[in-house]
Amino acid sequence: MTALRGKHIVLGVSGGIAAYKAAELVRLYKKAGARVRVLMTEHALRFVTPLTLGTLSEEEVHTGIFPTNEEGSWTRHVGLGLWADVMVVAPATAQTIAKLADGTCDSMLTAVALSRRCPLLVCPAMDHDMYEHPATQANMETLRSRGDIVMDAAHGELASGLVGKGRLPEPPAIVDATLRVLEDSAPRRHGPLAGKTVTVTAGPTREPIDPVRYISNRSSGTMGFALAETAARLGAEVTLISGPVTLSTPDGVERRIDVETTAEMHEAVLTRSADDIIVMVAAVADFAPAAASTRKIKKDGQGRALELVPTVDILADLGARRREGQQLIGFALETNDGLENARGKLTRKNLDWIVLNVLGEDGAGFGPGTNKVTLLGADGSTISLPVLPKADVAAAIVHHTLLQS
Ligand SMILES: Cc1cc2nc3c(=O)[nH]c(=O)nc-3n(C[C@H](O)[C@H](O)[C@H](O)COP(=O)(O)O)c2cc1C
Repeated sequence: MTALRGKHIVLGVSGGIAAYKAAELVRLYKKAGARVRVLMTEHALRFVTPLTLGTLSEEEVHTGIFPTNEEGSWTRHVGLGLWADVMVVAPATAQTIAKLADGTCDSMLTAVALSRRCPLLVCPAMDHDMYEHPATQANMETLRSRGDIVMDAAHGELASGLVGKGRLPEPPAIVDATLRVLEDSAPRRHGPLAGKTVTVTAGPTREPIDPVRYISNRSSGTMGFALAETAARLGAEVTLISGPVTLSTPDGVERRIDVETTAEMHEAVLTRSADDIIVMVAAVADFAPAAASTRKIKKDGQGRALELVPTVDILADLGARRREGQQLIGFALETNDGLENARGKLTRKNLDWIVLNVLGEDGAGFGPGTNKVTLLGADGSTISLPVLPKADVAAAIVHHTLLQS
């Protein structure tokens, strides 16, 4: 059951007699290492208390769509919908199934069901005749036709005294179904980098001078984004850590972390420092103002000296921490003595490869368009690529570095 470890489950509980079984379900999810946030309808509160489900889930239980405090956290339904890897409604009453089918949005449960971006697993529980009623069957069919997963109710003794189909599937069966839903929704990754975790940094960083001004550079992020896209296309699980840029996240990138300063980028990179491959494309600021003013510095007709201090050397830090088998690739932008400077950086920072761009060479440098790079390997190899569109440069870099080892 380790596949549930760390997964985020939103569990919607509606007002049927089987609501007490939600307690067991929460316990099983938690035991499997998942995080569970419970949403209860008003009617569910008549069957089981939020205290029970809150205690078992170790999270606040939500009911109404409006916050009970004055903190204005009205967007919770959107936040929960984005937080969830899967939403499970168990038990799902005939009433709640009808609301899910027709898009009614009158509770936290139904609002999250509409705003979520994850799969929905519905576990019906009701009296046999309610279950078999054409209206209920049609509502379940509507959900299925939209891609939601509706479990079959179990057969057996019902609270009404009848025997038939309508029982809530047993909690272990719901846990199994949840696992299958998560497995089916996980993007399948194929390609030569499948199974590898790759972090790519991109763009510039900004070091504040005062609340309105900063030191930065001309990096657009295009090269890093192209590399992230290429690695994802080849099957890697890619984390893209980006400074301020105007580019949208490439398809297939697993997660994007946006940062502003070099210190923030360092912190973000450290969260991925165990990844199999780290490619530092970002043009981080090498210097930052010694002290950023908290107020806008006023012009007074006088000149002004700005004291700069070095920022943290992220690449050197990664090189020092590097684990066995991890690949580390850096970029060097030089204006002069490119080869010599880049080789020095390669060795000093304990990298496998360094990608050298020489600013001023035709077709090389910042912005969209083309680049011209030379790859220098720790094994002494030197590979000079011609001027190419940045997407092709990315493909060539990946080919010569990551796919050769
Ligand atoms: C004792 C009792 C048990 C109930 N059990 C169920 C049930 O198992 N399934 C169901 O669909 N409705 C059941 N109902 C009816 C629902 O509580 C009712 O339709 C309610 O409006 C559901 O609201 P909700 O889906 O918003 O929670 C039961 C009602 C009572 C009083």
